[in-house]
Amino acid sequence: MLQIQQNVSLKNFNTFGIEVFARYFVEINHEDELVELFMDPQWFQTERLILGGGSNMLFKTDFDGLVIRVNIRGIEHRISKNEVFVAAGGGEVWNDLVNFCVAREYAGLENLSLIPGSVGASPIQNIGAYGVELKDVFYSCNAFEIATGAIKTFSKHDCRFGYRDSIFKTELKGQYIITSVKFRLSLVPDVKLHYGAIQDELAKRNITSPTIKDVSQVVSHIRVSKLPDPSTIGNAGSFFKNPVISTEEFNKVHTAFPEVVHYPAGDGFTKLAAGWLIEQCGWKGKVVGHTGTWKNQALVLVNHGGATGQEVYSLSSQIIDSVYTKFGVMLEREVNIIG
Ligand code: FAD
Ligand code: EPU
Repeated sequence: MLQIQQNVSLKNFNTFGIEVFARYFVEINHEDELVELFMDPQWFQTERLILGGGSNMLFKTDFDGLVIRVNIRGIEHRISKNEVFVAAGGGEVWNDLVNFCVAREYAGLENLSLIPGSVGASPIQNIGAYGVELKDVFYSCNAFEIATGAIKTFSKHDCRFGYRDSIFKTELKGQYIITSVKFRLSLVPDVKLHYGAIQDELAKRNITSPTIKDVSQVVSHIRVSKLPDPSTIGNAGSFFKNPVISTEEFNKVHTAFPEVVHYPAGDGFTKLAAGWLIEQCGWKGKVVGHTGTWKNQALVLVNHGGATGQEVYSLSSQIIDSVYTKFGVMLEREVNIIG
């Protein structure tokens, strides 16, 4: 039986730790409960928000609708020759899945160690870190279509993954609830070491032939050294995307600022390090009221305690303005803004 709660605090359900309330709140433990929920016209018509771990959200206001927290669990795995297909419920904790695979030497997820949040949210923005994106290991996902109550399977091609992007953020935004994700992993490790920081850390540890466990440990170590732990300092990771600009735009920035940190981003495009742009504008480690940017990573906005979502949002607007004024580059928020 579904339990719909009223006036629920979301403080412990968003990693920014912002105190806001949901008018209605329901936890979903099984696909069938989604059918039951949406059969009721009241809930079908109510404004809704799908919530996983709340690690990529900023609440500016209370949510005057129904928050649907996906808590569908379970991990299954099937070996086929040198490959292993792992399917996980949308409510599994992402890093628990990574640990499950690393412990069994199922290779592919190790570079994505310690990313907060749920399995179900991982395809939404095609999570990525340390040289790997979800799309590199994604096989398919099952999703509940709210309009019809049907479960649909999406292939990698269907999802139209891009940098911090998928069809679930664009054309199909708000229309599906991801109930499970299937990954195609390998029993023959092919470690991905091209991200400079991984190589530096392996060298420090005198590791010349790293296992996937080594990679997982090194990535976790780098992350902890750079990023604030949401259990003590509220944050949602990178607040902005790294801007991808045309070669023409890039040439202008590069001429004026030859030291600009950049990476190739496909034919005719260059990606800039937003953290560098923000730091150059003097924001790194700056405290503004209850909020600010992180001392070790200017791309991360933080809640130093008691911040409102509006305060964090205002800071993000000031940062966008100053980066635009100095570099002529428009930053885009990566975090989902609610309200
Ligand atoms: P939520 O924040 O709950 O939701 C995010 C979006 O997905 C919302 O639009 C929500 O409606 C939707 N959604 C959630 N679950 C479902 C579902 N089952 N079906 C349909 N829609 C759903 N991200 C990276 O890519 N790389 C990183 O390296 C990284 N590092 C981070 C470090 C820190 C310290 C933090 C706090 C965040 C970091 N993030 C990173 C961002 C975040 O971890 C990811 O975006 C993660 O996938 C969000 O998962 P979640 O379950 O918390 O999603
Ligand atoms: N930099 C600075 N100052 C800063 C931060 C960064 O100058 O304050 C420059 C440095 O030159 C550094 C470069 O930017 O070498 C890149 O920084 P980092 O390696 O920390 O990565 P990032 O580009 O800032 C991206 C992702 C992270 C992901 C890391 C590792 C985005 C928006 N962010 O950050 O994802 O963990 O790479 O792959 O793409 C997230 O999405 O929440 C997130 C944390």
